[in-house]
Amino acid sequence: MNIGIDKIGFYAPAYYLDMTKLAEARGVDANKYTIGLGQDKMAVPPITQDTITMGANAAIKILSKADLESIDLVILGTESGIDQSKAGATTIHHMLGINPRARAIEMKQACYGATAGIQLAKGHVALNPTKKALVIASDISRYGLNSGGEPTQGAGAVAILIAADPKILILENDTSYFTDDILDFWRPNYSDFAFVDGKYSNEQYQRFFEEVYTDYMEKTQRSLDDFAAFTFHIPYSKMGLKALRTIADEEDHATLFKNFKDSTYYNRSVGNIYAGSLYLSLVSLLEKGSLHAGDRIGLFSYGSGAVGEFFSGILQPDYKNALVADHDEMLQKRTALNIKEYEAMFNASLIKDGSHQILDTRNESSDFYLKEVKHHQRIYNK
Ligand code: HMG
Repeated sequence: MNIGIDKIGFYAPAYYLDMTKLAEARGVDANKYTIGLGQDKMAVPPITQDTITMGANAAIKILSKADLESIDLVILGTESGIDQSKAGATTIHHMLGINPRARAIEMKQACYGATAGIQLAKGHVALNPTKKALVIASDISRYGLNSGGEPTQGAGAVAILIAADPKILILENDTSYFTDDILDFWRPNYSDFAFVDGKYSNEQYQRFFEEVYTDYMEKTQRSLDDFAAFTFHIPYSKMGLKALRTIADEEDHATLFKNFKDSTYYNRSVGNIYAGSLYLSLVSLLEKGSLHAGDRIGLFSYGSGAVGEFFSGILQPDYKNALVADHDEMLQKRTALNIKEYEAMFNASLIKDGSHQILDTRNESSDFYLKEVKHHQRIYNK
């Protein structure tokens, strides 16, 4: 049975900071961010958006009534969830009006959580071929103002519907994964910000890519020529480019590099969305690239701490028609922030003492948003 991605779409918050403005404020040459890191803009979430609302906002765009009935598994892959016990997927399940006879869980392994969710969903659909699974990757990436990681922040969510006979991408069963207990990036329970050993994390990303890519190629006996494109976990677009350069030469494989550029289209304007970054890159490639039915796409997922996986998919004949059309429009409608506005939005926080906080939602135009916090509970619009 062929199982894979039947639908896919993303949501990004309505505000952004231009990387040149951040560079100016931090006394850095703007080329370091736009060329050195390969990032143009960074999505900034208002306090009314969290991993739950962003996930629901991404999912509502892709799901039909029939999907809501046939989904019986909802997985939220996130590392910036809002509760230590309750899975955000239970709230998203309710917000979207999904069939109550469903499982809803949250998965965590840094940026790898949604990939684990997709592989679990594949197994679930294999056992229940008439059912569908909704996998959502939703995260807010925060390193802190003036920190080394600041230019690699971002926020957003990708929603992926996994089904039999998928309209977009059959996920092949060939896959290679690798785990090692390392501390390249982590966020203790008491901290709102991630800690990171920047250079070490870059090295580990490369090491994990080499491990899983080599193993996949050995196991499948495939070569570069079997692939039309490679997509990567994109913490910043230059990181993926560096990984691609380790396996392909720009002169000999110009198409792979052109396709890679297409695959960073949305990432360059949204920033790192952790669990969703690989899938944001896939959406970019599907919408902006010029691939054909039958083309094989390689996907590299990396989650610090760390787990890496390389797997592949085959594009389906009508994939273009199955894509959501308004992602560009959503980004064009965003409001540009100046540095003061960005810092104020970054520093805004929810109360933690159980009292009642009513949020200013006048500028919210998203389908789902947070409107109050009361008795330690988040209250969303319905
Ligand atoms: P940094 O020290 O600020 O930057 O840290 P740098 O000095 O390494 O420079 C970055 C690049 O800009 C270099 O290019 C410079 O040469 C270039 P490279 O040599 O690497 O090709 N550069 C310039 N280019 C043009 N004009 C200029 C100029 N100046 C310099 N004037 C770092 C950068 C990414 C380490 C930092 O931002 C950071 O720590 N970010 C967070 C960690 C991260 O994103 N790591 C990526 C791998 S780990 C991962 O992907 C997992 C993660 O997503 C978490 C998870 O799994 O949940 C992070």
